[in-house]
Amino acid sequence: MAGDRRSPIDAIADRPYVLAMALLDIIVAPDPRLKRKCTPVTTVDAATARLMKDMLETMYDAPGVGLAAPQVGVLKRIIVVDTAREGETRRPLKMVNPEIVWTSDEQKPHEEGCLSLPDEYEMVTRPDRIRVKYVDETNTPQEIEADGLLAVAIQHEMDHLEGVLFVDHISTLKRNIILRRLTKQKKHGNRAVGE
Ligand code: NI
Repeated sequence: MAGDRRSPIDAIADRPYVLAMALLDIIVAPDPRLKRKCTPVTTVDAATARLMKDMLETMYDAPGVGLAAPQVGVLKRIIVVDTAREGETRRPLKMVNPEIVWTSDEQKPHEEGCLSLPDEYEMVTRPDRIRVKYVDETNTPQEIEADGLLAVAIQHEMDHLEGVLFVDHISTLKRNIILRRLTKQKKHGNRAVGE
């Protein structure tokens, strides 16, 4: 599915620096593709690695700290995250089939936003620390512990793989207000997408 989303500049073989970049379209809510459960990846091949690279470029360009495959129309269990602040060295995480194996009892509220819900922010409470296992871009199993913003970002992106958005964690009243606002923006062709 990543193939049809390639930018035409990929065809220019003598310009590898251009070829290295491909920005994907980010789906904005409400959209049925954001409400679906994603399927596991059997093997991480070159196409998966390429998709994750493109997802990272798209995320940095937006800019955002995380992006899940369903947000670019690929219903597979793939996420990318980088919570490094501006000016810091990038710390990209490319995670296939991520699975939370442990969460702390302590929970913390954190303000969340989403590239699929532009300009909407709400407080969401989640476990403060998590341990997550996943497969990396070389098809190697990994396990990491995360806290703070990184733990928030991983849990937020993993929610996307279940068809869950951060607004599903807040009150129905607030959620409906946000979704009505986004629907109205879509109708008026006011594309506030992260591009
Ligand atoms: Ni999101």
